[in-house]
Formats: sequence, C-alpha cells, structure tokens
Amino acid sequence: MAVAPFCARVTAVDVSPLMLKVLKAKIDKARLDNIDVVQAGFLTYNHKEELADFVYSRYALHHLPDFWKAVALAHIREILKPGGIFRLWDVVYNFDPVEAEERIEAWCSSYDTAGDENWVRADLEEHVRDEHSTFTWLLESIIQRSGFEIEDVNYSDDGMFAKYVLRALGNTVTTQHKSIARVGRT
Ligand SMILES: C[S@@+](CC[C@H](N)C(=O)[O-])C[C@H]1O[C@@H](n2cnc3c(N)ncnc32)[C@H](O)[C@@H]1O
Repeated sequence: MAVAPFCARVTAVDVSPLMLKVLKAKIDKARLDNIDVVQAGFLTYNHKEELADFVYSRYALHHLPDFWKAVALAHIREILKPGGIFRLWDVVYNFDPVEAEERIEAWCSSYDTAGDENWVRADLEEHVRDEHSTFTWLLESIIQRSGFEIEDVNYSDDGMFAKYVLRALGNTVTTQHKSIARVGRT
C-alpha cells in the first residue's frame, strides 16, 4: 500500500486468506485501485504480468527451509527485469554457530517481560524452534546462487534481522545454467 502511489501496478501475494482479507479491507478503505491481491505462495505464484521492476518481501521467507528458499529466490529472480531490485527483510541470524545459544537466549530474554505490541518471548521461542530462519552467511550464498547481487545489507545490532537490497543479474539462473551447459558441450 505504501508503494502503490509510486507504481503503475502492485501485486500483493500471500498464502493466507485471512491476511489477504485484512489487506483487501485496508486497500478499499484507502481507495487504492492499482493493487491486485493474489492468494499464492513463494513457490506457487504464477506471474502473468510484464516483468516487475521491484519485489519486496518482509518477514515471510523464513517460512521456507533453505532448499525451498533457493527455489523461491530463483523464482523471484525470474519475475524481475534484469537490473530490477528485490528488497528482502527477514529474521536472519548474523552470528556463528558457536554463539547460537547465547545470542538466541539474549534475543528471547529481551522480550521476557513486556515484549512489544506484536511479539512476546513465547513467539520468539516458537520462531526459533519451528520456523526456518537461517544464518546470514548461508542465506547470502543462496541469494547469490539464485541470480542476485547483494547491493546493500543492514544487520540489526542484536544479530537477529537483516534487510537486503538485491539486484537481479542480467541472466536468469536458468539461462546461466543453459549457457554453462552449452560451454560444457563445446
Ligand atoms: C510474519 S507474517 C509477515 C506478513 C507481512 N509480510 C508483513 O511484513 O507484515 C508472515 C507471512 O508469511 C506468509 N507466508 C507463509 N508461508 C508463505 C509462503 N510459502 N509463501 C508466501 N507467503 C507465506 C504468512 O501467511 C504471513 O502472512
């Protein structure tokens, strides 16, 4: 919604019918008429419009295990124009495995008493236990392997969040692999 006034069209994608219902109500209230709302996932969304200039994803990619993150990122790369931007925010662990226990405990205990308006300690524990946030150094390898250049990244001081600006490389991953295969044959 925030970006809609600056765009010709926006496609809002989520798997959850409830999230989309809330979103549709907000769009109607704001009288925005250039947002298409689509129920689909990272892996199932079928982009039928012209290639996009920008994709933005916030706090959602961690729902996928790493193998599927890579497939999803390659899919997003194919939706973007070459040179297009993917703004990716997520819970990503910016530390080494040996620090994990201390860092995770520090994060969870920072929400011990009050939490904030959205999360309490139990939500963070559930996130770490059941969801698929990964290390920055793994995610960044997946990002690069999926056809993006990391133009900028901002890590939170507690090492729990990362905000990336990713640029879609000229060739899609599929095309890169085809040209590698061609080189292999000659
Ligand atoms: C923490 S919420 C974030 C919602 C919203 N993006 C935001 O920043 O406020 C995580 C969202 O990821 C969505 N989600 C979970 N699995 C998904 C998938 N495979 N593909 C797309 N979205 C997914 C959930 O339905 C939920 O809306």
